[in-house]
Amino acid sequence: MEMKDQIDKKKLPVHVAVIMDGNGRWAKEKGQHRIFGHQQGVKSVREITEAAAELGIRYLTLFAFSTENWNRPKEEISALMSLLVTTLKSETKTLMNNNIRLEALGNLDLLPVQVRDGLNETINKTSGNTGMILVLALSYSARWEITNAARKIAMDVRSGKLNPKDIDEQVFSQYLLTHHIPDPDILIRTSGEYRISNFLLWQIAYAELYFVHKYWPDVRKSDFYRAIIDYQQRERRFGKISEQIQLNL
Ligand code: FPP
Repeated sequence: MEMKDQIDKKKLPVHVAVIMDGNGRWAKEKGQHRIFGHQQGVKSVREITEAAAELGIRYLTLFAFSTENWNRPKEEISALMSLLVTTLKSETKTLMNNNIRLEALGNLDLLPVQVRDGLNETINKTSGNTGMILVLALSYSARWEITNAARKIAMDVRSGKLNPKDIDEQVFSQYLLTHHIPDPDILIRTSGEYRISNFLLWQIAYAELYFVHKYWPDVRKSDFYRAIIDYQQRERRFGKISEQIQLNL
């Protein structure tokens, strides 16, 4: 049986989040510049997006650029930004053909204007699509997001819009950038590193973690299928005991 056919379509994760890691090391091992790794990484972005959409995954979030990544050498940042612009341009048609809606998550004000414009253009073009929602985390860091939420809550309390007594987890979630997106069910990280790297810290409270021992440019659809199969074999207890889950209590 093909790997894809081993996946139970009725037990799919609703939201898959991915930390794409290892482009630089992949390139270095090949004696190439890091930027070559990012360019090849785009192929894996296409593969995984396609695999997720074909399976019927509702949300796919890709960590494309962190707030901390702004500290990388200038040439690498600018190459990554150009790559983003060209990829958005060249892939908009694919998104349209596959009924995929694009969204972005992060401190987008920090992005160069061409990137922001390109991003908004694709977001607007795909806004009517009803299939998978592809979320690009760009200039994103979870601590930044949580701090922002805290600031907005403080302002709403000060202006009398919010009573401190009413602040619970649900209310707090409404102040995060992901207020309209369900929490990830599974978080995949490539390159063999076991870190979260400031990604969706609040939202992954109950996510299943899955690590791929390959650099991102080598990641293919089969790796994605393997992660989903592994996810489907796990028992998610959310703090309960196994018997409660089995009896649906
Ligand atoms: C991690 O590898 C990768 C990134 C920081 C950038 C990801 C970007 C792409 C795959 C290309 C464009 C993306 C889209 C969505 C069009 P790394 O540089 O941290 O690798 P290293 O850990 O080996 O140094």
